[in-house]
Amino acid sequence: MDYLKILGPTPLKGNVKISGAKNAALPLIAMTLLAKNRVCISNIPSVVDIKTLLKLLHNLGATYILQNNCIEVDTCCLNDTKATYDIVKTMRASILVLGPLLSRFGHCEVSLPGGCAIGQRPIDLHLKALEQMGATITIEGGYVKAEAPGGLKGGHILFDKITVTGTANIVMAAALAKGRTIITNAAREPEVVQLCEVLNSSGITIEGIGSSELVIHGTAGELIEIEPFDVIPDRIEAGTYLCAGAITNSSITVDNVRPDHLEAVSGKLEEMGFGIVSNGSSMTITPAKTIKAVNIVTQEYPGFPTDMQAQFLALATQADGATSIEERLFENRFMHVGELQRLGAEIKLNGHVATVKGPTTLFGADVMATDLRASSALVLAGLIAEGETDVHRIYHLDRGYENLQEKLKTLGARSQRLKE
Ligand code: EPZ
Repeated sequence: MDYLKILGPTPLKGNVKISGAKNAALPLIAMTLLAKNRVCISNIPSVVDIKTLLKLLHNLGATYILQNNCIEVDTCCLNDTKATYDIVKTMRASILVLGPLLSRFGHCEVSLPGGCAIGQRPIDLHLKALEQMGATITIEGGYVKAEAPGGLKGGHILFDKITVTGTANIVMAAALAKGRTIITNAAREPEVVQLCEVLNSSGITIEGIGSSELVIHGTAGELIEIEPFDVIPDRIEAGTYLCAGAITNSSITVDNVRPDHLEAVSGKLEEMGFGIVSNGSSMTITPAKTIKAVNIVTQEYPGFPTDMQAQFLALATQADGATSIEERLFENRFMHVGELQRLGAEIKLNGHVATVKGPTTLFGADVMATDLRASSALVLAGLIAEGETDVHRIYHLDRGYENLQEKLKTLGARSQRLKE
C-alpha cells in the first residue's frame, strides 16, 4: 500500500490543469450501454473509479480502447447483464448500470452496493422509480434483480430526496422507455446536466435540462447513436486546488475549469477574504489579508457541495475565529475530523455540525485517509503542517484525483509517494 509523505509548510505558486470530472465521466460511460455505435469520449480522468467501471463493462462483454484520456467504448456485443459483487463492492457508482441495462435488455442483476464510509447511502429511490416505470424488482442473495420483459414505460417520478446518481439512472432508463417520463425534484448538478445534454444531442428529447423537472421522451427500446464529446472539467478537483492555494495563502491558477460550476465554492473563498479572478476557463486565487471565519451548510447544487466540505474544514483551521460547517447530505461525513485533530486542529463535533476554531498551527503526524474527499483534506492540512505528514491509505485519493502528487509538485509542494 502507498502513502504520501508531505513536508510542510510550503507556499505554492503557478498553474495546474484540471482533469475531466470523475462524477460526470461515470454516468457518461454507463450511458454507452444505450448506444448502437462505438462511443468516443475525451477528457476522461485517469483515476481508479473509471477503470473500475470499465472493468465492469468489460465483464458484461463490452470492448474499449483507453488512450491519452480518450476512450472508445463498444457495447454492441454484450453477453451478460449481471454486475457482480466483486466489482460493485469496490465502487458504489456501479449502480449506474442498472437503469441502462434494464431499459436495453428488459432484465438485469446488479449487486446491492451495501454501506459506505460516509453514510448508509441506500438506493431505495432508484428502485422505487424503476418500479413506477413498470419494473419488477426483487432482492435475492444480495443482488437487485430487475425485470421488465415488455420494456420500461414512461411514468411520473417524484424523488422524495434529490439524488444525483438516482436522477442519472432514471434519465438513462427513461431514454429507452416507451413514452414520456417526468422526473420531479431532479438533481441539477452539472454532471447530470451533461448527461442530459449528450442524450439530447443523440436523439432523446429532454425538456427542462438544468432544472429540477426533467421530461424525457423515450425511444421504446431503439438504441441511439452518440457523437464524440468531451467530459466537463472536474469542479471538485478544481475546488480542492483552489483550497490548496487558500490554505497556504498563495496565488495559484486552475486551468481548464468552468467557473460557473464553482460559484458556491468561489463565493465562500471570497467571503473568507481571498481574491478570485476568473478569466475564460481559468480561475486564480490570491491571498487574503486575514482569513475570515464563515458559516457553511452543504446542499445540493447550486448550493455548497458536500464533496468540498472536508477541504473547507481543513482550510477553516487557518481562519480567524470560529467556522461552523453543517453537513446535510451524508450522516457520517466527518471521519477526517479525528485525523485533523491529530495534526493539532481545534474542532468540536456536535451531530451534523463541526465548529473549527482558528487560526491554529498544525504539526505533521501520521494520518489515515478514510474516503476520497477526506483524504484530500488531509493532504491540504499536510501542506501547512510543520514537519512531515504521512497520509496513509491514499488508494482513496487514486479513486478520484488524477496525478495528485505530480500536480501538487508543479505548484511547489514537497511530497513523496512511498510504499508502507
Ligand atoms: C453523488 O453520490 C456523488 N457520486 C458523490 O460524490 C456526492 O457526494 C453526492 O452525489 C452528493 O453530491 C457520484 O456522482 C458517483 P445522492 P450519490 O444519491 O449519487 C440519499 C465523491 O466523493 N439517498 O445524491 O450516491 C443519500 O443517502 C462522491 O466523488 C437516499 O436516501 O449521492 C444521501 O443522503 C462521494 N436514497 C442523499 O440522498 C437513494 O435511493 C444524496 O445522495 C439515493 C440517495
